[in-house]
Amino acid sequence: MENRNQTPEREQWGSKIGFILAASGSAVGLGNLWKFPYMAGKNGGGAFVLVYFIILFLVGFTLMLGEIVLGRHTQLNAIGAYRKIRKNWAWVGGLGVLAGFLILSFYSVVGGWVINYIIKSVTGGLYSSDPKVLGNIFNDLVSSTMTPIFYHAIFMVLTFIIVLGGIGGGIEKASKIMMPALFIMIVIIAIRSMTLPGGVEGIKYLLVPDFSKINMDVILNALGQVFFSLSLGMGCMITYGSYLNKDTNIPQSAAIIPLVDTGIALLAGLAVLPAVFAFGFEPEAGPGLIFVTLPAVFSQMPLGGLFAFMFFLLVLFAALTSSISMLEVCVAYVVDEWKWNRKFTTILISLAIFIMGVPASLSMGPWSHITILPGKGFFDTYDYITSNILLPLGGLLLCIFIGWIWGIDQAVKEATNNGTLKFSLAPMWGVLIKYVGPIAILIVFIRSFI
Ligand code: PFF
Repeated sequence: MENRNQTPEREQWGSKIGFILAASGSAVGLGNLWKFPYMAGKNGGGAFVLVYFIILFLVGFTLMLGEIVLGRHTQLNAIGAYRKIRKNWAWVGGLGVLAGFLILSFYSVVGGWVINYIIKSVTGGLYSSDPKVLGNIFNDLVSSTMTPIFYHAIFMVLTFIIVLGGIGGGIEKASKIMMPALFIMIVIIAIRSMTLPGGVEGIKYLLVPDFSKINMDVILNALGQVFFSLSLGMGCMITYGSYLNKDTNIPQSAAIIPLVDTGIALLAGLAVLPAVFAFGFEPEAGPGLIFVTLPAVFSQMPLGGLFAFMFFLLVLFAALTSSISMLEVCVAYVVDEWKWNRKFTTILISLAIFIMGVPASLSMGPWSHITILPGKGFFDTYDYITSNILLPLGGLLLCIFIGWIWGIDQAVKEATNNGTLKFSLAPMWGVLIKYVGPIAILIVFIRSFI
């Protein structure tokens, strides 16, 4: 009865907490630890955080639930899920696979920087609180030719090794240990950073909105960040939901994941921005922000070197639990749809992603003069096209698909396990996914691009 729509051989999560940890593992990653603090720094601090929260409530929760429900109902990857319900919608899933592929190709470059910093923290190369020294260490790394490409390759190899381990074995096991450890570490670092002399300024910068800073760019960036951070809009949660069994409480999981994700992003912001003000870094420094500020915090901590090592190691694990989800979306598609061998597919796609990532890495140094979009090199272009265009577009289409094609009644039936679960927010969710979500995304799109 419970397993009514399942193909018998499809793998499943070992436990409910296993799914929540793995889905949070996908959501919590470089998006929270690396991107959120620098996006907040660049987009007006509190103004960005405020807009982020509004979008999170209106669109983030809504789509999280929508994706998981669609995945469990169809028990298929992103493309198969759309196709099963409406044949000519399969391309929307395809858009998601493309987004995953593109994101991972620059994500893995940043993952490589993290691996390099783990090594630096052991060899002692990071011991300073001087913004100039730390800035140079970062710039030397990212602007060189071979070193970042080498570490990008290592990151991709690690990702594909875990994905080859399968769902139960690799992803679930790793998440169970690493996520709680990461949480504890980041709390300790945030406390140290906030209590630095002058750190209060950073807390204010992050949490007190200056309304004059809110403009369409800030709103589009916040929208993109919500999608990126929650792993939404590319079918990742559809694929993860497809491994769920029929008695899981999806509405509950869909609420927990964004809460965990946002909590970690805020903590990362509270670890980075107070240090920015305490040591005199630039809040608008961009992608290097976490790499230059946190070593300064570690230098002011007892056992700072050990802390730096453990922290960057945990960042690596968080990045890996996200990167595996992106690779999984691509692999699940090819294996499910084209019936290719899983091992071969995983290796081939990983290799392709690595090659795509090489220009992104080079654009931080030797290729910095090449622009693809106005003012943007390869790295920034991949980021912009995925976070600010493909993911929100995928989200918009998912809202339309669930609200208007599949139908709210069907979706709620799946979300409540055929009416056996209480989900009192169902009517509100229906309105959000049918009207509020698509209209909000459309307005931001239209105002930003036209
Ligand atoms: N959510 C991840 C992060 O914040 O690092 C990145 C990500 C993973 C985006 C998976 C999209 C995705 F499908």
